[in-house]
Amino acid sequence: MNTLIFSFVLFLAIIGNVQSRDVKFSIITFGKKASVNIPKLNDTTVELKPSILHKSVQTVYVNGCPDEEFEYSYIIDGEAEPGVNVRKLPVGQTTTYNELIGRQETISKLKGMGYPEDQEWTRSYGKTELFDDSYIPTIIIDNSNVPKYFTSPYDFGAKDEKTKIPLNGITFILKETIFTDKNVETAQKSRYNDKVQFKVKLNDGHKLYKRKSLKFRASGAEDPSFLGESLYSDLAQTIGNPVHDKVFVRVYLEDGTPIGLYNMIDVTASKSFLKTEFYGDVKGKGNKEVGAIFECHSSDFEKGMSCENKKVVKDSEDKDKDSYSKKDEENDKKKIAALVEAFDKVDVNNESSINEFSKKWLDLDSFFKALCLEYLCGHWDSYWEYSGEVSVKRKRAEEEDGDDDEKKEDTKTTQANNNNKPTTEPKVEKRVTVNKPTNYVLYQDPRDSSDDNYKFFFIDQDFDQTFGVGKKVCGPECSYKQLIAEHQTRAAKVFLREGTLTRKKFENHLKSIVQHVFNPVALGRRIEEYERRYAHEILWDFNDATFRDRQDRNHTNRNLDHSQRKAISYSQHQQGLEDIKKYIEDRAKTVTKDLDFEWDATPMEPVEREIVIEEPEKQQLKFEKSAAPMNMMITTKSTILTVIIVIFLQLII
Ligand SMILES: *[C@@H]1O[C@H](CO)[C@@H](O)[C@H](O)[C@H]1NC(C)=O
Ligand SMILES: *[C@@H]1O[C@H](CO)[C@@H](O)[C@H](O)[C@H]1NC(C)=O
Ligand SMILES: *[C@@H]1O[C@H](CO)[C@@H](O)[C@H](O)[C@H]1NC(C)=O
Repeated sequence: MNTLIFSFVLFLAIIGNVQSRDVKFSIITFGKKASVNIPKLNDTTVELKPSILHKSVQTVYVNGCPDEEFEYSYIIDGEAEPGVNVRKLPVGQTTTYNELIGRQETISKLKGMGYPEDQEWTRSYGKTELFDDSYIPTIIIDNSNVPKYFTSPYDFGAKDEKTKIPLNGITFILKETIFTDKNVETAQKSRYNDKVQFKVKLNDGHKLYKRKSLKFRASGAEDPSFLGESLYSDLAQTIGNPVHDKVFVRVYLEDGTPIGLYNMIDVTASKSFLKTEFYGDVKGKGNKEVGAIFECHSSDFEKGMSCENKKVVKDSEDKDKDSYSKKDEENDKKKIAALVEAFDKVDVNNESSINEFSKKWLDLDSFFKALCLEYLCGHWDSYWEYSGEVSVKRKRAEEEDGDDDEKKEDTKTTQANNNNKPTTEPKVEKRVTVNKPTNYVLYQDPRDSSDDNYKFFFIDQDFDQTFGVGKKVCGPECSYKQLIAEHQTRAAKVFLREGTLTRKKFENHLKSIVQHVFNPVALGRRIEEYERRYAHEILWDFNDATFRDRQDRNHTNRNLDHSQRKAISYSQHQQGLEDIKKYIEDRAKTVTKDLDFEWDATPMEPVEREIVIEEPEKQQLKFEKSAAPMNMMITTKSTILTVIIVIFLQLII
């Protein structure tokens, strides 16, 4: 009898516990008072309290919420939350995450793209909460020290000046974590666009998921589709190339003024990027010595190649200014020169010579894949396609005519006489178009370097003018063979010559990329995902974002060529989406014709990756996570029931 009662009571206790959960409600609102109403919990309404880290995030813990899916709604300053009918908490979830007022969906996974597994990049730290695109982070900027930060950027320096502007504060509201930093250093770029991009450097010891430098790229400023930049890095990541992480974020000012939708990305030439992209897989106190990162502009893999060592520059800012000595500089030059020398020596028809070069000097798979993407996505201002005019003395140009490749370039030359002298003048200057590889970085990896070799990785960046946006060097109908012929960069000359083994390798990558990802099916599905998830945010950017209120359109410092460049319109955005889809389809068709294959009829499924969420203790003091419940509100049915049962048990036993 007793056992029966006991079992029954135990059963009740279990039921009592199972039928409720404690839930953290959290909403980002620029209103004053917020509360949450839960009809199924006796229609309880509970007030939320502002977070200590940022008043715009209001939180409350409510015990005893129903276990099954239930409805709830927020009331902001006495009014029902606008734009959202009713919110629902799915089964099993014990937090709403940091919801944004007026947005129906807080968490929504974006389907990615799949690729054959042996190509995976395995050295990355993985996707963290910072770049988890199932969530849209909110960034709040305290610009009270520089009120005209977004409305009149030219107040902070002349046209081409790179001025550092301090911001009073910046707060990152992620899915679960709030991070805030004060007095951060920022720099603005592309100020000629209405939507200005900016870069933030967090203070020493205040890293956010190992990141110290983050860029906020002005999505929609150059690319009407908003998506080119994201798709490019999706592609690179999917095919297993090292690439910066990225996520769309909403940027606001402290008082709730919406600034706009930005693409928050890693700064490729930063130590923190290298650590996460190349040493993320190293656990504990393993060797994480970070090598040098060289940013290359107007520089190809030929004698005299010069790239700027960014890592050292950054470090010297942190510590003593002279830490990058003449000797270091010479050492860097030696490394680059040795790479160029190895480049000259590789036998492109000898498999073991190629492998040796790839292993010891420049990782060829990732380099070829990067070149494929430059071609596929029309990345005109990077390594392969960028060219510029140089002025040469006629006499010198004639001397160089001996070189086949220079000659080819000469045929495309725009002959512009920049003086008034007649063209018959023998020593007149002429303008010659030459390749000017630019905007890429080379990472020198200590892991595979030794006393007699320096191993490098090629990494692309700056994807805002791609997929047909900007200059059309080799449009979607243009064959890769044409690009090779017309843009004889060093890589094209050495590795992409017809009949070589390396050309074959390049073509294999190109084929594989188009077959599995760069096609209307796989990339098309990814675009649909972006459209589904971000349509609302893009609309918000068009309707509410205040970057369009720039007051310095007539500022004397504003670049006159660009001063008329107004922000794009919503209909241009819609056209931009059509254009990018058409671009992808046309380009994919060109490649399938060239290499005679078909793309996958159904897209490969991505390998699901776990999102890295750091333990709050490991994070800096500036963090707040679902740590200690701050405002435990009501004691509920289930807890009361449990207490009664426990007392009852004690009585009968
Ligand atoms: C191919 O390259 C390897 C490594 O550089 C070298 O040892 C070998 O002699 C080369 N073979 C030929 C046929 O040149
Ligand atoms: C800038 O100049 C144009 C033409 O002179 C004028 O129409 C416009 O109102 C000016 N804008 C501002 C913000 O002063
Ligand atoms: C819910 O309401 C009912 C009826 O008013 C009451 O008996 C019960 O105690 C309430 N429960 C809670 C948890 O407040």
